Parts: sequence; C-alpha cells; structure tokens
Amino acid sequence: MPIAELAHETDFDGWRKAARAFRLAGAEPAAVRFVVAGSAGETGSLFDSAHPRFRGDERKEKEIQFTVAKAFVDVAQEVILHRSTDRFDLLYRLLWRLRDEPDLMKVVSDRDVADAMERAKNVSRASHKMKAFVRFRAIQDEAGETYVAWFEPAHRVLEKTSGFFVRRFTTMRWSILTPDGSCFWGPASAGTSGGELSFGPPANAADAPQDDEIEEFWKTYYASTFNPARLKVRTMQGEMPKRYWKNLPEASLIAELVAASHARTEVMVASPHTEPNARLAKAIARSVRDGSYEEGFVASDLEALRHGVQACRRCPLYSDATQGVCGEGPKKARLMIVGEQPGDQEDLVGRPFAGPAGEVLDAALEEAGIDRAEVYVTNAVKHFKHEPRGKRRLHRTPATSEVSACRWWLDQERRLVRPKVTLALGGTAALGLLGRPVAVTRERGQRLSLSDGSTAMITVHPAYLLRIPDAEARGRERALFVRDLKAVRDLL
Ligand code: URA
Repeated sequence: MPIAELAHETDFDGWRKAARAFRLAGAEPAAVRFVVAGSAGETGSLFDSAHPRFRGDERKEKEIQFTVAKAFVDVAQEVILHRSTDRFDLLYRLLWRLRDEPDLMKVVSDRDVADAMERAKNVSRASHKMKAFVRFRAIQDEAGETYVAWFEPAHRVLEKTSGFFVRRFTTMRWSILTPDGSCFWGPASAGTSGGELSFGPPANAADAPQDDEIEEFWKTYYASTFNPARLKVRTMQGEMPKRYWKNLPEASLIAELVAASHARTEVMVASPHTEPNARLAKAIARSVRDGSYEEGFVASDLEALRHGVQACRRCPLYSDATQGVCGEGPKKARLMIVGEQPGDQEDLVGRPFAGPAGEVLDAALEEAGIDRAEVYVTNAVKHFKHEPRGKRRLHRTPATSEVSACRWWLDQERRLVRPKVTLALGGTAALGLLGRPVAVTRERGQRLSLSDGSTAMITVHPAYLLRIPDAEARGRERALFVRDLKAVRDLL
C-alpha cells in the first residue's frame, strides 16, 4: 500500500502533492494511506519494504499537474485543520471522485461533500471561538511588558487565526500558547514598520501565567456587559461553550450572574448605573497607550478607527466616559444609522444602542423588515456626555462644538463603510451628518443628497418615543417612526 508521509498535522502542501501523485498513478482511495511524521502509533514496520513510503516531492512537478475546482481547494484547506484522523482520506476520496464528477462539490447532498462541508464549518467555528475567547495575561520579561495567552482550540486553527490577533494587537508584544503549537508576535520598533510573527512548538497550560490585572479587567467587562434582562442560558452556552470556560477568567462569574439575574433585572430597570467603570476605563486606556492619538489621524480601516476613537482628545468628553463607543456592523453595510451619543449602558458595554433606546430601535427595525445585523449603527458623538445627579448619571445633550469635533470620526466611518443610505435619528445626529442645524419635524422623511452622492434621511430619535407619557400618542409616533424606517428600506 503506498503511504504518504506528511510533515505535520496541518501539512496541506504535503497532502496535496502526495494526493495528486496518487491520483495520477491511479491509486484508489482504499489503497493509499496518509500518515503524519512521528505521530503516535506509527512504527517502523509501517515503512518497511512491503509498504513503499511515498513523499510528495519524489515525483517531478511537471508530472503531477491537473486542476481541481477551487471550491474543493477552499474546503480542503479548512478540513485539513480538523482534528479527525480520517480527514486526509476523506479529502483524497473527494479528489479521486472529482476526476469523473467535476461538479461534485456542488452536490451538497452527497455524503462525502456534506461531511467535508460540516468539518470545514467546525473548523471555521473553532477559529471564530478562538478570536472571542483568547485571554491575554500581562507579564514582565527582560524586554518589558508582554502578553501571554493559553488556549485550547477545538481544531488546529492557531496559524489560520493568528492574523486576526496581529491586526487586533499590532502594537503589543504577545504569545498564544496551545497544545498544537505556539505563536509569537513582536511589533515593529518605534519608527519602523512591520513586525514579526513566528511559530513554535506545542505548550502546556503551566507555561502561561495564571492571573493578573487583566483577569480583573475581563471579569469587570463581562459583568458589565452581561444583560440579565436578555439572559438566555442556552444561547449563552452556545456562544461560550463549556469547553472554553476553564481558561476564561470571566467564566467564574457565570453561575453567580445567572443566579442573580432575576434580581438584577429589577434593579437595572429601577436604577441606572451611577458612575463610569474606572477599572475598565483604565484597562482600555492602557490598551490604546501605544497607539496614542495624533491630531489629524486618518484611519485605514474600522479597527484603526476604533483605536483612534479610544485615544481621541478632540473635545473634553473623553475625560468623564468609560470609553469611546464606535459604530458596529458590516464594514460594507448599505445602510448606516446614526444616533446621538452613547447612553449610560452603551458607555459601559462599549456598543451603540445596547440599552433601552436600542430596544425600541431593534423592535422598530424588525417591524420595518430591516435586519439590524446588516446595518452599521453608530453615533454622532462617541463619548457619553452626562452629569451626576445623586446616584445617577444623567444624559446631557452634546454641544454643537462637541458634535463638530466628532464629525471627524463620523465622516471617516462613512468614508470606510460607504453606505448607500444614512439615516440620522434626531437633531444631534442630523447636525453631525449634515454639518448644519436641522429642524427634524420639517425635514423628516425627505430624501437628502450627501456630498459623496449617497442619500440621507432624517427621523426622530427612539428615546423621544420613550419619553412620550401618553400611550396612545406614543403608539401614533411609533407608527410614524416605523413608516420612516420602511421608506428607508424601500430606498435600499
Ligand atoms: N442613544 C443614542 O443616540 N445612541 C446610543 O447608542 C444609545 C442611545
């Protein structure tokens, strides 16, 4: 039986060369084997003369040229990262069948195709979970501060996912240790560009530090973003599967928060938060320290813009807020919705429209047939302006100078996202969008042209609906709000 020896568990190039050569030689799937060099259980006997061992590069390149559908290559590159031991065989079976069934990858009901798709999906999910659940802990070494994380991915996605962390934490020095291998990032030194990403051997949990201040940061962050009014235990477990809990500092809070959620819902409704979250604010300030803000900073993408907003000092509002709240949504959304400024909840959670006005907006969007997940939602002003009143933080309308200062960011968001339609909610949003004072009742619902050729519309702010005491009047105003949203939907 011909055996191909692959250099390591995710050796896609090795598998591809060997599989191509097998197929050209007419070797049926049942007649070939793929093994990983040095893997447990593979003894010398496997490679004795009765089993000629095949290495991918033994044949000349020119003899192994044929093309396969890109759809197969894309799936195969993911499937190879799956932990199942028979993945190489499954892929070879598909490659073999593609010879006579060139459109095989389109037959999603086929067992092999469905199996490969499912495994590719598992891998992609594991990568997604890694992005969400890697938790760095700060340590000092001879070169200064560095961040280390221990993570156990469900599949072998370290290399595939490392680019995400490089983009996200470009200016930090960090390592991610996993049982499959380790990954190290060293940022470029001051005044130079680039940085260096390298990979090393598998690690143990004990190689990573166990706790530090950042641990507290994650706990505080999670506790503040946990919304008991929206608690759905099964959804939460789906998003944060138990297998990841042991390495998540904040997981220790889950049982406690779930148990307390009923009481907290009542408390939350009755008493809004009273102060900025100082610990979170400090941790965020530290995380942006290296990317200190320069007047005139132009962001190349939304991630850079997020950093710019955190470091922004264009007006004094940053000083009393927990954090700057950037927009969120697809980077090429066709609709952008602009609110006024983050409120109390948004300031703590770091997401626009996450509190009561957000609930009104979400319900109205749904009724109008607009999926919020497809909308880029942001605010004219990125920091929460408020004043303390007893134990509460009371909303204050931003001044024209603050809205003007923050147009810098809104304009950049619009330049990067390039929405077809931008909807301003209320007067402050309209001022930020159009750069002139707007009488909402007069201009509401009209199609306005923006300088980039796209369309703007204005409607009321959802918080206005919340403030109408009379239920009937509120119902009428809400219906008009939904009507405006439907008009926006039609423009799209
Ligand atoms: N109100 C706004 O205008 N924006 C938010 O993000 C929340 C409340």
